[in-house]
Amino acid sequence: MRLDTAQVLKRFFFCERSLLVSMAAWIPSVAPLEIKIEMAHIIWQCAESAHALRNRVFELRFPSRMLEEEGPDHALIKLFSGIKDSPSAAAFLMSVTKVLLPALRDSYRAYLATSDSIADGPTHRFLSLALSEKDEQIRVLQKWLQFLLLSEPLTLEEALAWTQTVARHLSDLGSVGIGPTQAVLATIALEGSKTYSIPDRPSRDPRFWRCRFYWPDVVDPSFPYGEGMQLQIRSAISHLNEVWAIEAGGVILSAFADVLPWEWIHDSARWTYDESRHCRMGYERLLSWGLELGQIPLGTYIYESASGQDPIYRMGMLYFFETKNIRHKLTRAQLFHGYGDSLSEHDMDFDWADETIHAGYGKHWLKELLSLRGGDPGAHDQIRERCRHLVSDYVNTATSIEVADIKNVAAALMAKAVARS
Ligand SMILES: [Fe+2]
Ligand SMILES: [Fe+2]
Repeated sequence: MRLDTAQVLKRFFFCERSLLVSMAAWIPSVAPLEIKIEMAHIIWQCAESAHALRNRVFELRFPSRMLEEEGPDHALIKLFSGIKDSPSAAAFLMSVTKVLLPALRDSYRAYLATSDSIADGPTHRFLSLALSEKDEQIRVLQKWLQFLLLSEPLTLEEALAWTQTVARHLSDLGSVGIGPTQAVLATIALEGSKTYSIPDRPSRDPRFWRCRFYWPDVVDPSFPYGEGMQLQIRSAISHLNEVWAIEAGGVILSAFADVLPWEWIHDSARWTYDESRHCRMGYERLLSWGLELGQIPLGTYIYESASGQDPIYRMGMLYFFETKNIRHKLTRAQLFHGYGDSLSEHDMDFDWADETIHAGYGKHWLKELLSLRGGDPGAHDQIRERCRHLVSDYVNTATSIEVADIKNVAAALMAKAVARS
């Protein structure tokens, strides 16, 4: 019946929401670059499914005030949120890949098999897509989980124990399912959990050349941004190093998930996903020039400039860099066109359109957050200004060895790229 259906779809909404909020929080702690990129992709897919579910529940005339709370599914949703306190990145990914995503996949399959495709046709369309995405998410994460466990073998036992704990609690609650909820009021404590905190340092993929400052011009203003091949490389390095923006997007999505309305999660999931596409553009471009990962600098300075600060400054960092750099993007796309480098031109052109959306997100949500805190919504420019200072203070900590090293790495990279072009 209509209201039973709405109740189940509401449960799916809260499961997707909790899963994606936890996943966003874990992006900085996972080292392999491809997993960070995949996590951002999954977050966006979950947010789109959650958004469709939420709209559908409203369409079914479910009392809207009841959509603000989990209701009888409280214990189940607490379990989905509880994985934010996983003891390690491997434990987090294993519990998601082996327990929570399969539980959602099975429930969606059961829902589609049982419900009426005429009366509930609109749900069938988006839930079929969500089901195929769940299959793909599990497949992709399984592959990368193996890779992660090979690089962090010490966490295997803990990850297995944690995954079993999550599975046992889920089974005690009757899984996600499509039946009526047996209201369980007692919230469970997950044995082995570790209270989550935003990491001060992001994990970096050891296959790259790891550093804080990823190009000489960051620490030496007299170093030219360059033209021709140098500009093409610089641009791809910038895109790759937008890994900081994936992490910032994930951290703020999670940090403000319970403060700002649902639309915040929906927007910031897209924001995070877009940054992962920009990062991947640079990654694939550098690989297409035949460069080896060990020669490619992957930095941390922008993420670390905001560490220890109120997470509003991580939102401020995105806003600061996006509004600072956007004016160069179309000019650079035209330069790439002139060089006959249609790939770089294409990447920059799409990037420009995304960044225009993001500048709007930054301004809107900084204002919302400031006014919720009882401050002046117009103070978003002060946040931006403080971010500029935080970054320049952090850049001033660069040592002469770091400056010399990055100059050598950049010179070697450019020499190799020129030789291969
Ligand atoms: Fe970006
Ligand atoms: Fe952006």
